[in-house]
Amino acid sequence: MHVDRVLSGMRPTGSLHLGHYHGVLKNWVEMQQEYECFFFVADWHALTTHYDTPQIIEQSVWDMVIDWLAVGVDPARATLFIQSKVPEHAELHLLLSMITPRGWLERVPTYKDQQEKLTEKDLGTYGFLGYPLLQSADILIYRATQVPVGEDQVPHIEFTREIARRFNHIYGRESGFEEKAKAAVKKLGSKKAKLYDELRTRYQEQGDGEALQSAKSLLDEQQSLISMGDRERLLGYLESGGKMILFEPHAMLTAASKMPGLDGQKMSKSYNNTISLREDEASVTKKIRTMPTDPARVRRTDVGNPDKCPVWQLHQVYSNEDTKHWVQQGCRSARIGCIECKQPVIDAVLAEQKPMRERAQLYLDDPTLVRNIISDGCEKARKLAAETMRDVREAMGLNYS
Ligand code: TRP
Ligand code: SF4
Repeated sequence: MHVDRVLSGMRPTGSLHLGHYHGVLKNWVEMQQEYECFFFVADWHALTTHYDTPQIIEQSVWDMVIDWLAVGVDPARATLFIQSKVPEHAELHLLLSMITPRGWLERVPTYKDQQEKLTEKDLGTYGFLGYPLLQSADILIYRATQVPVGEDQVPHIEFTREIARRFNHIYGRESGFEEKAKAAVKKLGSKKAKLYDELRTRYQEQGDGEALQSAKSLLDEQQSLISMGDRERLLGYLESGGKMILFEPHAMLTAASKMPGLDGQKMSKSYNNTISLREDEASVTKKIRTMPTDPARVRRTDVGNPDKCPVWQLHQVYSNEDTKHWVQQGCRSARIGCIECKQPVIDAVLAEQKPMRERAQLYLDDPTLVRNIISDGCEKARKLAAETMRDVREAMGLNYS
């Protein structure tokens, strides 16, 4: 298998806030140091729920890309693109739909959950039912190995793995597979070929998972020696009787964001308790200054309890041990006032946002920079997507000439 490739998408349905930063984007910035990363604007996904307000999507696309760049997503390390600019996603979605049992989609937990939650919208559409499959196409088309997702999206990755398995099972059986696979084994050279055969036997006869892993890494190391087609055959030959055309991705679980909002609930647009990523300083200051505190602290002389105060939750995200100690002591003894207590939080949020605002300014001043980053990213993504589609079309017998 190739090196780990990370893919993730985000829906453009409004401006990003500090909850997105602490929950998702910080993680993207870390991953780009370690993996080959693809991050995309999931505009078609946004249409599955916002089909009647496309103007929101249109407004959010470029702002969102600027937000990504602002937090430090680096176009020199990660490929950034827009889903609808790579129409191959739609083609793969369509082709996969031919082999997707409707019941699998109806059983994806987000399907019923979201319909119940978003009651103001009619989500009885074909597009909404199919959206996990579109997500599968997004992932499989890049042969991504790792997909960072929150807990709620794990079933989508599981679903994607099942679709990949089903596809390989149905279409991976080229005629003469066994002979071709054996010929490919020979190309490894006699020593490696012998090792491959041993590992394969150990896996198939004794179910030895370690042997399977060793065989896969053996193929990893031989990347330069064998063609893509032979590698797919050798991978498929290990586990079953067919060629591996689509790769099963792994979910990379991102810890749920505990970023509290201005009212102590989780920060979320629907609770109206957010601070946006690039919100201006005066507005941030005002929002925090007017945050509710422990309701028992009516007068300055009343003692308070940080456990009952949303400001304390922000201290837990932003403050060091000394400051937290100062809050605990000062609040419980009424030696500090709430405005005083909020100041270190205000300072910390502003300090966090400062480099974001500065980086964003560069792109706001020169929008062609952003356009170019995305157009390079789309081009790179399309090349990879086209490769996979060539294999998929061939496997499905669509190579008429
Ligand atoms: N479905 C994801 C969400 O709603 C966004 C998404 C679309 C995605 N395609 C993806 C995430 C592929 C990871 C990989 O948040
Ligand atoms: Fe909350 Fe700080 Fe006021 Fe205590 S002093 S109630 S922790 S804002």
